Amino acid sequence: MACFSCGSNGTVEKTNENGIVIQPTAQDLYSEHCSICHGSDGKLGAAGAKDLTQSKLSSVEIQNLIEKGKNGMPPMKEFLGSKKNITAVTEYVLRMR
Ligand code: HEC
Repeated sequence: MACFSCGSNGTVEKTNENGIVIQPTAQDLYSEHCSICHGSDGKLGAAGAKDLTQSKLSSVEIQNLIEKGKNGMPPMKEFLGSKKNITAVTEYVLRMR
């Protein structure tokens, strides 16, 4: 089983040289938690994942799916850490179309 979220609590937390926590960008979050199944361009389709560039889901539907998961897709809420991060990844996914 691949590690789709390494680290103790699964959230992405990067610090700069002064130990200040840097907010991950939507792209950081996506590459860390989603690209393993969906690919960096959304088209990989590993583990039965859907092509995100062909998705017709609304932003609310995507957000729900990220939070709760569906079939082969695990709930990603705790990996993303916050509602803000979920919203950022949702917008990132929408821009892939
Ligand atoms: C372990 C593999 C895996 C990971 C990690 C994963 N997904 Fe998925 N994803 C899937 C699978 C499998 C489906 C198809 C679910 C189904 O049966 O409808 C899916 C479906 C989706 C869909 C719905 C596409 C559609 O139109 O039906 C979206 C949007 C999506 N994933 C976004 C994400 C995002 C964003 C992340 C990261 C936060 C992510 N996924 C992480 C496996 C994964």
